[in-house]
Amino acid sequence: MFVWNALFLIEIIHAMKTMIIFMSNHGCTERVCRDLAEKLNGEVTLSNLKEVKQPDFTEYDRVIIGGSIHAGQIQKRLREFCENNLEKLGRKEVGLFICCMYEGEQAFQQLNNAFPEKLHQYSKAEAILGGQLNFEKMKLLEKAIIKKVAKVDKSVDKIDHQAIEKFAKRMDRTFAPFLMLI
Ligand SMILES: Cc1cc2nc3c(=O)[nH]c(=O)nc-3n(C[C@H](O)[C@H](O)[C@H](O)COP(=O)(O)O)c2cc1C
Repeated sequence: MFVWNALFLIEIIHAMKTMIIFMSNHGCTERVCRDLAEKLNGEVTLSNLKEVKQPDFTEYDRVIIGGSIHAGQIQKRLREFCENNLEKLGRKEVGLFICCMYEGEQAFQQLNNAFPEKLHQYSKAEAILGGQLNFEKMKLLEKAIIKKVAKVDKSVDKIDHQAIEKFAKRMDRTFAPFLMLI
């Protein structure tokens, strides 16, 4: 009996569908999304808001939303997407994350400011997943700002792979808390 129940639960987990909706200026958040997608249970679809302005997530059980921070703000289109879809998102298992270079309290503040208050209330898990400074992809002005503010003049990789792993596990557990029993 236990084996049948366990098999049934595993089947449910594999049938669940997740959409990760993201925006990325220089490719870091996209890389993070691909890594996250590999770690999550079930079927995962990536949707880049730069390419699809209104992704249809109706058929998905979970929606994970992520973007990167520039001058303290998340991408405007991502923020507006969240505001315009609050009600529909409230019916899903929501996860939120940001990519950024700051750590600790400053990063936490950026995460808090990035998404509408109501979406924070709906979300099951939130995370700060590190960042990258990609000099090859930056515009001249961006390079100048980074050199002045961060005092860095070459590419840096601070993607937090452990945090990605932890975030994926937290999302899977909140979707299927009975996973602990198997
Ligand atoms: C012009 C510029 C401004 C940035 N401003 C911030 C900032 O205010 N706070 C922060 O934590 N990181 C900041 N960053 C770092 C980005 O959040 C980081 O590079 C992130 O990984 C970018 O992800 P993306 O390539 O997906 O856009 C900035 C980076 C650039 C190029």
